Amino acid sequence: MSLIQDIKDLKREKNAIILTHCYQNIEIDEVSDFVGDSLYLSREASKTNADIIVFAGVYFMAQSAKLLSPEKKVLLPNLKSGCLMSDMIDTENLRKFKSQYPGIPVVCYINSTAEVKAESDICCTSSNAINIVRNLNVKKVLFVPDTYLGKWVEKNLDDVEVITYNGYCPTHLRIRPDDIIKAKEKYPDALVLAHPECHIETAKLADFVGSTKEIIEYAKKSDNKVFLIATEQGVTERLNRDSKNLNWEKVFYGVKDNIICPNMKQNSLEDIYNVLLNETNEITIDETIREKAKECIDKMLLSGSRK
Ligand code: 13P
Ligand code: SF4
Repeated sequence: MSLIQDIKDLKREKNAIILTHCYQNIEIDEVSDFVGDSLYLSREASKTNADIIVFAGVYFMAQSAKLLSPEKKVLLPNLKSGCLMSDMIDTENLRKFKSQYPGIPVVCYINSTAEVKAESDICCTSSNAINIVRNLNVKKVLFVPDTYLGKWVEKNLDDVEVITYNGYCPTHLRIRPDDIIKAKEKYPDALVLAHPECHIETAKLADFVGSTKEIIEYAKKSDNKVFLIATEQGVTERLNRDSKNLNWEKVFYGVKDNIICPNMKQNSLEDIYNVLLNETNEITIDETIREKAKECIDKMLLSGSRK
């Protein structure tokens, strides 16, 4: 309790805010100003007047906040908190991939480093990927690094070929189509809500596919009472907490046990307190890379606002 109060006091003293991804350890919500998905958090990062942003998420998320707010200090509570998918591509791999398909625009999922964004044409997140590709008005795109989000985009658009890089999220790939089938046998009235990082055959079995924040919003609005959640456990935990606290009378089950992103769980309240107190683990980005990568995110923010 006093750690939570100490963090709140430090935030006030230092004009800091805490942005928290919904896969983080749930107790971090208590000190957070915003909790949500990558798009929502990157938008909030660009709007804030705070001097310091503590990003309770993984490295690429803190980097994205720094891209949009170069004048602010952006701190990552634990530097071990990286994204395995974003580590699957670097500029060398990207250049090789691009050279196989000259002249085709590159759409880069936000789960990537600033260096990879700097060499891509436009960024996207799980919540706007379909719109971003549609708004490009082209017949073919290259999509990096998530092969499954790319396939999901292609499935939802007529007449666009999405050529995907072979990156993936090991946590989401653990959820197999069979897991959905078995869970549905146990809870036949449940609606299945899945993240598009799941295998495409898994996503096809879901009633709704969306970003973490979209899954939470869908569940909140739905008249259904039972749900099966096909994404990281942090989402299931937050839904059950909100259902209890706000009397939704809904119940949420993970499609499979222990769907946990180990990297997302690296940040603790102690880490947050320490980085805020000592202003350590600051994210820095080379200015040339930052400008190019920012352009890639800016194009997304502009295009994403058109439906
Ligand atoms: P969201 O943008 O949907 O929150 O997803 C980020 C992520 O890393 C999912 O694994
Ligand atoms: Fe990266 Fe997967 Fe973890 Fe999301 S869940 S941060 S994609 S490793």
